Amino acid sequence: MRHKDINRVALIGTGAVGASYAFGMLNAGLAEELVMIDLNKDKAEGDAMDLSHCLPFVSSRTKIWAGDYNDCKDTNLVVITAGAAQKPGETRLDLVSKNCMIFKGIISAIMEAGFDGIFLIATNPVDILTYVTWKFSGLPKERVIGSGTSLDTARFRYLLGDYFNVDARNIHGYIIGEHGDSELPVWSQTTVGTQPIQRVLKKNQQYSMRELDEIFLNTRDAAYHIIKRKGATYYGIGMGLVRLTKAILKNENSIITVSAYLDGQYGENDLYIGVPAVINRGGIREIVELDLNDLETRQFKNSVEILRKSMESIQL
Ligand code: LAC
Repeated sequence: MRHKDINRVALIGTGAVGASYAFGMLNAGLAEELVMIDLNKDKAEGDAMDLSHCLPFVSSRTKIWAGDYNDCKDTNLVVITAGAAQKPGETRLDLVSKNCMIFKGIISAIMEAGFDGIFLIATNPVDILTYVTWKFSGLPKERVIGSGTSLDTARFRYLLGDYFNVDARNIHGYIIGEHGDSELPVWSQTTVGTQPIQRVLKKNQQYSMRELDEIFLNTRDAAYHIIKRKGATYYGIGMGLVRLTKAILKNENSIITVSAYLDGQYGENDLYIGVPAVINRGGIREIVELDLNDLETRQFKNSVEILRKSMESIQL
């Protein structure tokens, strides 16, 4: 992969998620150039104009314009949010066939333009569409990343921080597996500061595992609760994509639970699924293999099987 002179990011899909990401990128000042690409050219142009008018208010300069797939040639990072979104009552896996077809067209157009950077995928079902992107693009697996359970982990830490009245950044714990109904909390490795959560429960009678289990359910089902109220989710995922973009463009070597290709890790092969991974300017540096207990191992295996079954329905 040739690192481009200009720090350019291309965004495919300027709907609510894409627009939230673009707004976050502007505030973070991470890219010198941000290309907005959407089938709805007017929307992309309108967003580019609207966002450009923010520039006098922010500290760093980002050149933003509505472009096309040819602009992906000289781009470090392509972020894809395009595709059909969950409707009330739909699971993320219900979108697999529809969005897989859409991705076939998008990925081939981007690769035809000569793209040779990193893909960051957010469209659901994200684990499967990240696999589809890897397959269709032919890029090395470490340069095709899905948002995975990064947002779920953020929700988990926020809710636990609120419960223990501690800054969410001092809650260390991961949600892994499918970004969806079969995801799981790794309670055995979750700490409040450096205190294992089981120890915190033992020392403080006012906390209970029952309430922690409820916190996990609220994490897992957060999107359903939000979609029921406002029709879609976009701020959380948009900001999560900004966080991932920062880890990549700033070469941070940050550990984030992304949808990563398993090549023997966790005893699994040929699958994208949410696991902690070290992220830097080369994409995924390495996958972190957690010591799961028996229950977590069974739950992770269940999530793997659900993704594998759903992948049977797509033609690659
Ligand atoms: C959510 C979408 C991004 O969890 O799947 O909000």
